[in-house]
Amino acid sequence: MSANLRIDIDRLMRRLRRLGEVGARPEGGVSRLALSDADKQGRDLVVGWMRELGLAVAIDAIGNIVAVRPGRGGGAPVMTGSHIDTVRAGGLYDGNLGVLGGLEVVETLNAAGIETARPLAVAVFTNEEGARFAPDMLGSLVYVGGLGLDEALATTAIDGARLGEELTRIGYAGEATPGWLLPHAFVELHIEQGPVLEADGITIGAVENLQGISWQEVAIAGTANHAGTTPMRLRHDAGYAAAWVATRVREIAQALPEQVGTVGVIKLEPELINVIAAKATFTVDLRNTDEERLKRAERMLQQALDEIARSEGVTVSSRVLARFEPVRFDAGIAKLIEDTAAGLGYSSRRMTSGAGHDAQMLARVCPTAMIFTPSVAGISHNPREHTEPADLEAGANVLLHTMLELANG
Ligand code: GLV
Ligand code: MN
Ligand code: MN
Repeated sequence: MSANLRIDIDRLMRRLRRLGEVGARPEGGVSRLALSDADKQGRDLVVGWMRELGLAVAIDAIGNIVAVRPGRGGGAPVMTGSHIDTVRAGGLYDGNLGVLGGLEVVETLNAAGIETARPLAVAVFTNEEGARFAPDMLGSLVYVGGLGLDEALATTAIDGARLGEELTRIGYAGEATPGWLLPHAFVELHIEQGPVLEADGITIGAVENLQGISWQEVAIAGTANHAGTTPMRLRHDAGYAAAWVATRVREIAQALPEQVGTVGVIKLEPELINVIAAKATFTVDLRNTDEERLKRAERMLQQALDEIARSEGVTVSSRVLARFEPVRFDAGIAKLIEDTAAGLGYSSRRMTSGAGHDAQMLARVCPTAMIFTPSVAGISHNPREHTEPADLEAGANVLLHTMLELANG
């Protein structure tokens, strides 16, 4: 009966564009950092749509939003979802596609009068990006019991705000206990955010695994001194030390297979042209699909920190902001995604996820996999992030039929 059922791409695009107006930057792109005013407005908009679709909406104590569509037989739901927070200058699709794709599945079923055996659920998880509060995937991590609620609420933002206070301020400190509804299965639709599908000319990625993530913040203390009078051999230059480590991160990434490494933040103090920096604070993001290699990269970074401490006479300390092992998704759901794509006439391939996703946390409590759609030029975390509507449509159709199969099969 439902084999010919298809989502409505115009409706999905309308919602994606409407949500993209919330936090739109004058210079282009979207800024909805977690628990900001723009995040609140985006949440209000999405919760409004959920209620219009007849979903029962619950907000939990870490601000995750879970909306449920009942099923004939009851039982644990088939859940989908993602996040609507963005990096400081993001695009229309990262996270939003997974949430609004889920709502599009619900609206398609509502319009066709189709009831599923199991309930369906669409979730919006708090602070997936980790751009404002570390770690990333914080809401889904708390949801699956990987981080205590009190510890999560005490997290400090890059702007000094407390997560718990921000959650209350925007009205999303809910009553439900995180993890109150454990899914039968979880499937997340997301843009690839990388170049693989486009390069291969393939429409759907059946994501079977996901890279491990290691985030650290490094602080280097040197000595402020006069840039003109201090001989080079007498300097303890925190700025130089940070720059040297940043180039080592590139070399570490090049030395190990499949390794990537990024220094995305460097702050110097006192940050003046004629003063040797007394303090440098910077972040290191290391990722690999192989846990042993990721550990090796971390050891090489530590060696670099020890080396610069000795040679420059500076004091180095570091703290872990996030550490997640690589994840293997459920083989059965990855196969179902592949088969569903084939049944709908879309090309597909198995692939790995370079980005972190809420699905990696849900994988701890239920069978989980992801559906990727191509990213034009592999660009993401950038206002130029783009996926062709036809590819978004394909992804949402695969989500629809994958969820139907999981809910009825
Ligand atoms: C989260 O989106 C990440 O992969 O950095
Ligand atoms: Mn995302
Ligand atoms: Mn992202």
